[in-house]
Amino acid sequence: MVDRSAGAIPSPNIWRFPAVYEVENRAVDPDHVIEATLQGIRPWPGATVLDLGCGSGFHLPVFAAQAAEVVGVEPHGTLVRKARRRVKRLANVTVLPGTAQQLPLRAASVDVMHARWAYFFGPGCEPGLRELDRVMRRGGAAFVIDNDATRSTFGRWFRRTHATYDQTAIDRFFARQGWGAIRRDIRWLFASRAELEAVVRIEFAPGDADAILAEHDGLEVDYAITIRVRRY
Ligand SMILES: C[S@@+](CC[C@H](N)C(=O)[O-])C[C@H]1O[C@@H](n2cnc3c(N)ncnc32)[C@H](O)[C@@H]1O
Repeated sequence: MVDRSAGAIPSPNIWRFPAVYEVENRAVDPDHVIEATLQGIRPWPGATVLDLGCGSGFHLPVFAAQAAEVVGVEPHGTLVRKARRRVKRLANVTVLPGTAQQLPLRAASVDVMHARWAYFFGPGCEPGLRELDRVMRRGGAAFVIDNDATRSTFGRWFRRTHATYDQTAIDRFFARQGWGAIRRDIRWLFASRAELEAVVRIEFAPGDADAILAEHDGLEVDYAITIRVRRY
């Protein structure tokens, strides 16, 4: 039996390699550029936060430290259970099975929506965006944390593996739907070369991963991102 909600978009990195994905999450943005940008636009102390496509729940404790209530929504059953285990001592966090297209939430109940590395938000995701319009409260903000494949070392690697990825088309799609785009530069910082290698091998095709590891020394990777924002 397939243990995932209908409409889930395959996410091979975290579905197949959750332990390595945890290493990746620990390496992402050690300077907290993403959190500072989001807090600068719509702070979450006292708010209701939705982490959509929350995976194994890595980001839930960060939101829970200041929010009144945090809801993680995730379609993959194993990841729902992992996320629930992670937050079992946090009384203000709930993890629910579900998808962007069918959110298990009441209308006008969310102040801040965070979706990170969310393949399910791109051209064709109008049903998910309509659901967001339903659940977001006036005064809230929705954030989609996305790659910026046009810049940086990571962007160059990403284009090599995803040759048909069309950043301009994605940017235009979101602009048409009324979303703004903020460009930021973050980095990956790993504790060891073995960690960096393991993550590169789950994110890129095998031949590309070999080439990347042969050309790139050290423990850091500069990484350009787009933070997509919609205010309610
Ligand atoms: C690349 S992972 C990122 C996980 C998490 N946001 C993080 O940063 O650790 C993408 C996640 O989106 C989930 N996902 C896939 N399709 C989805 C959908 N239609 N609605 C909501 N989440 C979805 C996947 O199961 C996976 O956990």
